[in-house]
Amino acid sequence: MKVRVELGERSYDVMVAEGARHDLTAVIADILPDARRALIVTSDSLRHQPWFDITTGIAESLVLVPEGEAAKNFEVVADIVDAASAAGMSRRDVIVAVGGGATTDVAGFAAATYLRGIAVIHVATSLVAQVDAAVGGKTGVNTKFGKNLMGSFHQPRAVLCDTETLATLPARDFAAGDGEVVKCYLLEGRSVSEFLAASLEERVLRAVALKARIVSQDEREGGLRALLNYGHTLAHALEAESLAGRDLDLEHGEAVAMGLAYAARLARALGYADDEVVRQHDELVEAAGLSIRIPAGVRVNDLLEAMARDKKAHHDLTFVLWTPEGIRTVSNVPVATVREVLLECGAQL
Ligand SMILES: NC(=O)c1ccc[n+]([C@@H]2O[C@H](COP(=O)([O-])OP(=O)(O)OC[C@H]3O[C@@H](n4cnc5c(N)ncnc54)[C@H](O)[C@@H]3O)[C@@H](O)[C@H]2O)c1
Repeated sequence: MKVRVELGERSYDVMVAEGARHDLTAVIADILPDARRALIVTSDSLRHQPWFDITTGIAESLVLVPEGEAAKNFEVVADIVDAASAAGMSRRDVIVAVGGGATTDVAGFAAATYLRGIAVIHVATSLVAQVDAAVGGKTGVNTKFGKNLMGSFHQPRAVLCDTETLATLPARDFAAGDGEVVKCYLLEGRSVSEFLAASLEERVLRAVALKARIVSQDEREGGLRALLNYGHTLAHALEAESLAGRDLDLEHGEAVAMGLAYAARLARALGYADDEVVRQHDELVEAAGLSIRIPAGVRVNDLLEAMARDKKAHHDLTFVLWTPEGIRTVSNVPVATVREVLLECGAQL
């Protein structure tokens, strides 16, 4: 099952299948026939997974990055670039990221900067990476001020979403990935019964197809692509709290789930949506085993501060919201309403 991201000469395929990783050698030979060296970027725990039988068919070296979010910092970018230099990689060689969204984000950023940009292929092994992070070309790392504050657009040359690798994904990460899947189902107006009836491959494929369609029309987030940030204004604020070490342990998809339930309530408070819309959001989020409530102890003012710093905002409070005309970006949302709905969703004064 293949989905094409149409971006002119930068178009590429996303392969979704059990065992898709075994296509890596053929994909490199096909789309990068001049590549002589590959640098595989992964983490130590993934290297020891039973499915880690990755081969590129060309000279390979390996660089290990820290597990999960800890990989997303500038020092790790420098480590990857140094490993590429040490391996003598040229502009025609390839970086292969094998891992979740944190690994594909940091490896993608390193690929965007090494020799001013070389090819990257993502072998996405988490649900978040398969349905979201590995597709669309956004790369980046965190700074002490927040998530993804340093990054670039750098499209991969191919993405392999191997659903077999998901067998070893911890249940919590799996559910978190479904947070992004639920977002796609809501954006397409799909019901909870459709979500429950879909196989894993179908869920991944639906999310990838939606993202590919949107990215093909709006690569650099001029408008349409912002829709993919549904639920993300609150999610990023919650993650900023998490990063600041304030006794909050949240995964991206878990934060997105809370952000979706919050966005529905904010739309209702603004008169754009009714109780039925809120119910649909809650049902889908809960069907994925995720929480709609902001965890206890999170303070309204901390969230407001983080939201104002959101990359999508322009010195105001901006949300993607359900409206009678469809889901769209709404700017200048009154702070009093944002505050009131944060309290309704479990944040504290
Ligand atoms: N670039 C984008 O467009 C985009 C979109 C969404 C999310 N993201 C980013 O992606 C990151 C979240 O991605 P994530 O949820 O994959 O987190 P992650 O990369 O931190 O992975 C979560 C954990 O799962 C482990 N893991 C991954 N695959 C596994 C497997 N098959 N078996 C066992 N363990 C496995 C990882 O080692 C890690 O410990 C965040 O940094 C987020 O900002 C980026």
